[in-house]
Amino acid sequence: MKKVITLLCLITICTSAWAVSVLNSKHNLSVTGPGDIKATSETRVCIFCHSSHNTSNEGPLWNHETSNSKAQTYQRSTMDSKAEQPNGATKLCLSCHDGTIAVGAIKGVTRPIKMNNVGPGGEIPVSKSSNVGLDLSGTHPVSVKYEQSLALTDNHLRWPPQDPEKIVGTDADGYVQCTACHDPHDDSKSEKYPFWNKSTFDAVCVSCHSY
Ligand code: HEC
Ligand code: HEC
Ligand code: HEC
Ligand code: HEC
Repeated sequence: MKKVITLLCLITICTSAWAVSVLNSKHNLSVTGPGDIKATSETRVCIFCHSSHNTSNEGPLWNHETSNSKAQTYQRSTMDSKAEQPNGATKLCLSCHDGTIAVGAIKGVTRPIKMNNVGPGGEIPVSKSSNVGLDLSGTHPVSVKYEQSLALTDNHLRWPPQDPEKIVGTDADGYVQCTACHDPHDDSKSEKYPFWNKSTFDAVCVSCHSY
């Protein structure tokens, strides 16, 4: 409940460091955004992902249409775990990044918010590498339950995952999601890796893996 109140507060009245970091990133999809995919006139920033009412329970005050398209998950014989169909934050990310839904398709509107430089259905164009698609077999396993038994079977996984800054880890349900590596609100921590949770590549990996 506390989280929900904080979220409401942030979205409606308060200004925060977070709001500033979103503003300077490609996830500012409003007309003021720095990327080439942005609204033709919509000025609200958080609205593409969150709203204060009529939201779905798929994520924190989640306001974007989500996809139920089946994804090709990561499967290798070397895996001790099993990547499930996208759930949690991964499902939220894919609501834009699988390329099946318009970027401006928010809840409760009949027509998506009008965007510049999107594909014919308003989606992230297939020509862009940011259109990740539904084939996740080449992406680090996501929607994977990271349990102690898994860590014990796999010689290279830490238990529990540990990050002194408490940024990298599993979600509240114990799953590894896209957000293990990426912070959707901040694209300024690393110059090299987009929306990266840490300043270096390795700092993310070593929270869970040991070599
Ligand atoms: C492009 C999509 C996107 C935009 C735009 C966005 N967020 Fe989020 N936000 C997310 C996702 C995804 C999550 C869930 C993260 C998770 O589950 O780890 C989230 C979670 C949150 C949370 C819950 C705390 C947490 O980290 O779980 C707050 C608060 C929040 N966002 C505030 C904002 C505010 C304020 C804005 C506008 C300045 C904003 N967000 C814009 C995608 C977005
Ligand atoms: C509301 C739609 C939306 C949601 C939800 C969303 N994104 Fe994005 N994201 C975009 C758009 C649009 C871009 C800009 C793509 C481009 O210009 O190629 C982008 C850019 C990115 C980039 C940088 C790509 C680049 O080429 O620089 C990353 C990484 C990214 N998103 C990850 C995520 C992750 C992880 C989540 C979930 C936590 C997420 N996004 C949720 C719409 C979204
Ligand atoms: C284990 C870490 C990790 C996870 C988990 C992860 N990514 Fe990434 N992602 C990266 C790295 C590293 C890059 C930089 C490009 C590269 O080297 O492949 C990247 C790049 C991207 C880009 C930019 C386009 C591109 O391909 O270069 C997008 C968009 C993106 N990721 C979205 C996602 C989404 C959506 C998920 C969940 C389905 C996800 N990522 C899960 C590490 C991760
Ligand atoms: C939040 C924890 C977490 C983070 C962060 C993370 N991983 Fe993973 N990674 C896992 C889990 C869990 C698996 C599944 C292991 C298994 O089932 O054998 C995995 C699997 C892998 C695999 C595939 C192993 C196989 O058997 O096919 C590679 C490679 C990998 N991770 C590399 C990385 C790299 C590189 C980074 C940093 C960019 C990273 N991981 C970040 C938890 C994480």
